[in-house]
Amino acid sequence: MHTHIEHDQQPWWQKTVIYQIYPRSFQDSNGDGIGDLKGITSRLDYLSQTLGVDAIWLSPFFVSPMADFGYDVADYTDVDPSFGTLSDFDELLHQAHRRGLKVIIDYVPNHTSDQHPWFLESRSSRDNPKRDWYIWADPKPDGSPPNNWLSIFGGPAWEWDAETGQYYLHSFLKEQPDLNWRNPAVRQAMFDVLRFWLDKGVDGFRIDVAHFIMKDPLLRDNPLRTGSEWSLHKPFGDYESQIHLYDQNHPDVHEVYREMRQLLDSYNHDQPRFSIGEVHIYDLQKWVDFYGKDLDELHMPFNFQLLKTDWQAQAIRQSVDALEKALPEGAWPNYVLGNHDEPRLASRIGPQACRLAAMLLLTLRGTPTLYYGDEIGMVDVFIPREAQQDPLGKNLPGLGRDPCRTPMQWDGSRHAGFAPPSVAATWLPLAPDSREKNVEKQLADPRSLLNLYRRLLAFRQSSPALLRGNYLPLDNVPQDIFAYLRHLPDLAPVLISLNFSSRPIEITLPELMGGRILLSTELDREGQIHSDRLDLRPFEGMMLIPGKRMS
Ligand code: NOJ
Ligand code: CA
Repeated sequence: MHTHIEHDQQPWWQKTVIYQIYPRSFQDSNGDGIGDLKGITSRLDYLSQTLGVDAIWLSPFFVSPMADFGYDVADYTDVDPSFGTLSDFDELLHQAHRRGLKVIIDYVPNHTSDQHPWFLESRSSRDNPKRDWYIWADPKPDGSPPNNWLSIFGGPAWEWDAETGQYYLHSFLKEQPDLNWRNPAVRQAMFDVLRFWLDKGVDGFRIDVAHFIMKDPLLRDNPLRTGSEWSLHKPFGDYESQIHLYDQNHPDVHEVYREMRQLLDSYNHDQPRFSIGEVHIYDLQKWVDFYGKDLDELHMPFNFQLLKTDWQAQAIRQSVDALEKALPEGAWPNYVLGNHDEPRLASRIGPQACRLAAMLLLTLRGTPTLYYGDEIGMVDVFIPREAQQDPLGKNLPGLGRDPCRTPMQWDGSRHAGFAPPSVAATWLPLAPDSREKNVEKQLADPRSLLNLYRRLLAFRQSSPALLRGNYLPLDNVPQDIFAYLRHLPDLAPVLISLNFSSRPIEITLPELMGGRILLSTELDREGQIHSDRLDLRPFEGMMLIPGKRMS
């Protein structure tokens, strides 16, 4: 059983829906074909009023050589000129807060850019005071790298520095050297970065590869993988040949997040400041550790389980049940169906299933993250070789993330309203379907996917059962149906029933008799139910108030 919290005591980050913006691709305000902060500010009314989300997460907009499009930071406390200025950010924050939108920004603690002044100093000589700010090690006697660790982005995780005769560690690109979080000065400097943004009033941080910041101090070789001892949510080339025992997630990581949580909590004067960590650990027992033993670490680690779960009723139910079971008392769940590193949801599960996905995401217990463009069903865009941007795709063909990062499709004009029509080219090409699939068109169509998202978001915000009710899966339904109740004592529960199949299915439940349909994913039926049966059309989801009181 979960403890019940009164609405006004429920912290904002549990009631919110997080909308992720990839700043390069949301709105270009100055006609260089690259999205920017002023562009985002100009679309805040869409987010807060038209769509109805209440928090945005901005992927990095900090000073960067863009080797990994902003995840290689050269100055954590300033804005890259391609995105605007610090005062553009202040204005964005101000305008967002005026509209009741919380602003979560990206925090990249594991690595800086190789152009960051800290690294330039660190690599300048072995006795530079900042040498130990990064992870340097001697070669093996034969000159080869210190151990067998691999970069996720391909090749060894070590780069030779001829000048000073040592290797430095980079878990990602060689342009992204790993910081040494065991050095107190690094911790101090990186906590100062948090203070800088907290003082400005940002509401929280999304922490990039949060589990990576502590590694084995002895730099031991990773064991080789022989079976399924370790896994990610998708294939990752040679990186999968090892069990990543020593190059990430050292137990000391937890002490850092306890300290970070204290810092965030010291800013809690009016509203909690929030942290959500990118933690790609698929062993739930290890994953929950990031909440902290006394819920004193991250507010939440991102739950990516559904990214690797078959799009099938029983599989999804099992994933949700397993998560609910694994959560420590009082810990809050969350769900992710897409982000800037993954194939687009509509491409992964198919366009027909998108409506069901919307209902699932917005009715499960927990905080949903919605990736920009998924509300209109944007799909992966084929990027010809000469237009490819993502370094991951260049190193490991097939794993490139450009297809899910194309410009937002606002209207049917040239460049889809993302950039002025006169612009020669946008940084990534627009989807070929942007003339038919865009915000303007879908707003005009009462039964569009976008209008389904709007209805679901509005329901969610006004329903205590959806916002904080318990989750109770229903057993007596056919294989292809995932049905659950969200309920609170003394309040009308909500029953959600999702048909994952391409066939019509009839369900029979005593709770249906006398119930009332609130919303169908087809947006074409509502009202009383006069039987204990209900027909669900192919891929149809239904939200209803049961007729009988549930306990
Ligand atoms: C995870 C981010 O989401 C991804 O986009 C980035 O390339 C890596 N971390 C490295 O920062
Ligand atoms: Ca621009």
